[in-house]
Amino acid sequence: MSVVALVPAAGRGVRLGAGMPKALVPVIGESLLLRAVRGLLASGRVQHVVVAAPADQVEVVTAELAALPSAHVVAGGAERTDSVRRALDAVEQIAPDARVVLVHDAARAFTPASMIRDVVSAVEQGAPAVIPVLPVTDTIKQVDDAGDVVSTVDRSQLRAVQTPQGFAIDVLREAYAAAGDVATDDAGLVERVGGKVHTVAGHPHALKITTAFDLAIAESVLAVAGE
Ligand code: C5P
Repeated sequence: MSVVALVPAAGRGVRLGAGMPKALVPVIGESLLLRAVRGLLASGRVQHVVVAAPADQVEVVTAELAALPSAHVVAGGAERTDSVRRALDAVEQIAPDARVVLVHDAARAFTPASMIRDVVSAVEQGAPAVIPVLPVTDTIKQVDDAGDVVSTVDRSQLRAVQTPQGFAIDVLREAYAAAGDVATDDAGLVERVGGKVHTVAGHPHALKITTAFDLAIAESVLAVAGE
């Protein structure tokens, strides 16, 4: 039974300011998307990847991934939720035997293979939904509209969430069937339908590249890795 990864990459990447969809931004010569998709396949636990591209860039993205025959491209939608839903719908055709599905940000292009394998294994061992998490290192405060502190949150119970998030495919289908229009977190949709979400250890290299500063950090990570 195959494992399929969905990669929503249909955003405009405005915060990065590169003048192109964030997924296509190169880091030392290769786009975030190509690195992310290759990383999923190189984990050895993912057989197919379905990428949701900006609707007017399906051809560009298909060309970008031409070297990877297990990568499939569909047109994304107006919101991330629409893009994931379209990719999920395509799984029926691409891999009808899929029982485990991952949802992964193209922007987390440097996610270690071991983390991808940990997420898949946890789903295969029976968890309906699995997310990789890191402890929160900053002190977190709740503030009001005036910018005054309301309270200090106990950070020992907080976790920052990364991707890939993993799901039993029926669980993700049920969560999306019940979902409204906008959600930034797929596991959150599972929580809304009463599903249990398990956590595994995340990794600092799975950082989400959102700003030019993050891009500079990613380039440093690659430099240290000897690329
Ligand atoms: O903008 P944000 O960082 O929240 O987007 C998260 C991910 O969702 C990005 O990888 C982006 O490309 C994707 N996305 C999408 N379709 C949209 C909007 C965002 O696939 N309509």
